[in-house]
Amino acid sequence: MGLAARKVALDILCIGEKRAFRASPFQGKSFRALPPDDRALCEELVMGTWRWRNVLDSVIASWSRYPVERLETRVREALRLGVYEILFTRMPAPAAVSITVDAVGKASRQKALVNAVLRRVAEHSGHIEMPPIEDLESYIETRFSHPRWIVRRFIDTFGERGALALASFDQRVPPVTLRTNVLKTTRDSLVDLLRKAGVQARPGRYLDMAVEVSRAGPVTDLPGYHDGLFSIQDEGAMAVSLVVDPQPGEVVWDACAAPGGKTTHLAELMGDRGLVVATDKHEEGLGLLRHSVTRLGLRNIQIVYMDVTDLGSVAGKFEGPFDRVLVDAPCTGLGVLRRRADLRWRRREKDVSAMTDIQKKILNAVAPLVKPGGVLVYSTCTLTEEENQGVFSEFLEDHPEFSPSDPRPFLPASMFKDEVPPEPRYRLSTGPGTVLLLPHVHGTDGFFIARAVRCH
Ligand SMILES: C[S@@+](CC[C@H](N)C(=O)[O-])C[C@H]1O[C@@H](n2cnc3c(N)ncnc32)[C@H](O)[C@@H]1O
Repeated sequence: MGLAARKVALDILCIGEKRAFRASPFQGKSFRALPPDDRALCEELVMGTWRWRNVLDSVIASWSRYPVERLETRVREALRLGVYEILFTRMPAPAAVSITVDAVGKASRQKALVNAVLRRVAEHSGHIEMPPIEDLESYIETRFSHPRWIVRRFIDTFGERGALALASFDQRVPPVTLRTNVLKTTRDSLVDLLRKAGVQARPGRYLDMAVEVSRAGPVTDLPGYHDGLFSIQDEGAMAVSLVVDPQPGEVVWDACAAPGGKTTHLAELMGDRGLVVATDKHEEGLGLLRHSVTRLGLRNIQIVYMDVTDLGSVAGKFEGPFDRVLVDAPCTGLGVLRRRADLRWRRREKDVSAMTDIQKKILNAVAPLVKPGGVLVYSTCTLTEEENQGVFSEFLEDHPEFSPSDPRPFLPASMFKDEVPPEPRYRLSTGPGTVLLLPHVHGTDGFFIARAVRCH
């Protein structure tokens, strides 16, 4: 039972070692061909293996004669997968060993190695060696499976307690949050519909349009999905479009739009009256947006494939300035590590400064197209000061025509009621016109949201 799910899981893990997934890792043909229960199992195994990689590697290192990093990719990933099943799931250890060995494929040498190491792990799985908590960097690196450079940054930015809380938060399986399509239904009717179908559904933590569901199986199988009654979106991401505060009849530009979660939210907030121009340089992501627009029944969205830093093409495509512009910028994504468990292993510290260059370029390109009196919102789903306050402060310095505007009035007070900056350093990372939603404080994905108004 479940051999196909494990084979596909192993393939996804091996692909993930070679390249980044542009969209979801769970979109390939072989994944989609699995029955719903197997898809859920495959997703859990892949995410769990990524999420706990350092714990798994330290166990493998204790029982393998070869260093983990020297093992062939397929053997290493099979060992990680097998150890994850033995340590973190209810699967009896002997069964976890044999099904992982079967999933490896035909190569008998690889199977023999996986079999030998997993058997030893299964026999001794009661005890896992951890660095002492006094050596906090090593402790968090192993116990909560984060790369060392991210651990150092978390400690520098949020202090020791903050870093521990944040890293342990990243290890939780995130809830699925839905955004009600208020043009088609109400939040309460959606909750009723889901409950009648046996899905555990409750209103979201903060926002009127949010619903949290506990589910087993693909979200696309939930009732109402194909009728466009909801989108899948975290409350942190929903907060961004609320801060843009688009009004019916306005012309709004979502500059980095794909795959379009915020574009469709902006259109819904406008009652689908006016125009949302959605641009991106990722063709496949814009394809996903096109699907969502049709599914949600939205009409006033114009999708344009373009690199917004190419000023010539921007000037050619748009006649006039915009009432509001959103730059939901590409970033290192350190605020969404619980959802994108693979990301922590792909990012390098040097990506931070590369990202800030891109973010500044994009902001500089869009700024002239904000109408005088218009609004510019800059957001990221990361937690580095350089990409957040650093980029926004520099933008304000270079563009005296913009002044910061407080985002908080556009968000419910409940979002900030229990907010006690856990460490003094935390205060440093936000200035006028910004909010920082922190996973371990707000319970949402991590988002930095900055708002500015063009004065002249
Ligand atoms: C964080 S994602 C946007 C997520 C999207 N706003 C949503 O809510 O679904 C950042 C996006 O910026 C796009 N991007 C990066 N550089 C760009 C550029 N120079 N011009 C246009 N889009 C760009 C990426 O392709 C990516 O889709």
